[in-house]
Amino acid sequence: MMNQTIEVRREDGGTSQVVIGQVIDRLENYVPNGKKIVVITDTNVYKCYRIMIDRFEKIIIEPGEEHKTLDTMGQIYSQLIALGADRETFLLGFGGGIVTDITGFAASTYMRGVRFGFVATTLLAQVDASVGGKNGVNRDGYKNMVGTFNQPEFVLCDLSVLKTLPEREFRAGLSEIFKAGLIRDAGLFELFEKHTFDDFYQDENLLHQAITRAVKVKKAIVDADEKEHGQRKLLNLGHTMAHAIEKSTRRFEHGEAVAIGLVMIAGLSVKMGLLPAGVRDRIVRVVGNMGLPADSGIPMDPLFEALKSDKKKDADSVSLILLRDVADCEIRKMNFEELKQWLFV
Ligand code: GLY
Repeated sequence: MMNQTIEVRREDGGTSQVVIGQVIDRLENYVPNGKKIVVITDTNVYKCYRIMIDRFEKIIIEPGEEHKTLDTMGQIYSQLIALGADRETFLLGFGGGIVTDITGFAASTYMRGVRFGFVATTLLAQVDASVGGKNGVNRDGYKNMVGTFNQPEFVLCDLSVLKTLPEREFRAGLSEIFKAGLIRDAGLFELFEKHTFDDFYQDENLLHQAITRAVKVKKAIVDADEKEHGQRKLLNLGHTMAHAIEKSTRRFEHGEAVAIGLVMIAGLSVKMGLLPAGVRDRIVRVVGNMGLPADSGIPMDPLFEALKSDKKKDADSVSLILLRDVADCEIRKMNFEELKQWLFV
């Protein structure tokens, strides 16, 4: 299988390289020569990749969203100081989206910024979280309230590392790939109509193609709007609902909540007369075929309250991404009252 490199433009004129394929064995080619390298990883990932990680200095954090905090950041800063890390040090985030978000933030702030790159070990991190430079930590129950936009020098997306992923996590990652197809790549959407979950799980060539296409969608959007003033909001398709679900229950993986969010947005878009019902049905079918949930089981009243308290609100409205067709979305700022009327009809 050929490695595929996708270069995402950075505001400073440089590029961030996303490399997809068999790449983990060539990690040495990507980290800078002769510099102190500090790996940031979590205890789960460390167990799987100990031999690889032990070649470098390391900081090991606890896994889980509850550790994506300023407290963890404080511990990382202290350990970096103890390790003698200076402005020449290179930070390597080795893990899923939480590890890469934390590493990106640590690298952006430690000594006012040091170089960094990622080995993305989950499907979700490979196709979304670690690409595009959003990083940060949660605060006061709000996700990603404190952070920066700063893209890594590289994101290594090795397909063999996905083999150690629990099936549920793999499935949840597929949902972000499906989202990318819905936003801007009808061919990618159709791959999901043609193939089963097992095809994606077992066929490396198919998976390679799907990851590459999803990263290309993200690249095109981030190239045009790195700081999310406009079209980068499209990447939040399904996410306003997903965040409300995740605020209400811990039952779902992020990608599962996104799948439910996509179905909800498709339903809303049909009600608003924007999307043909047949397209919504195709979306629902794919979500079901992939074994992803289509319904949270949470009543609309508490879900709507959770949605209102999401960080993506400003005052009394929310930017929603609505569907007009496969690969055709629009960003619409909606007043909560108006949204409520559509959601509750
Ligand atoms: N995960 C959405 C974005 O990177 O903009």
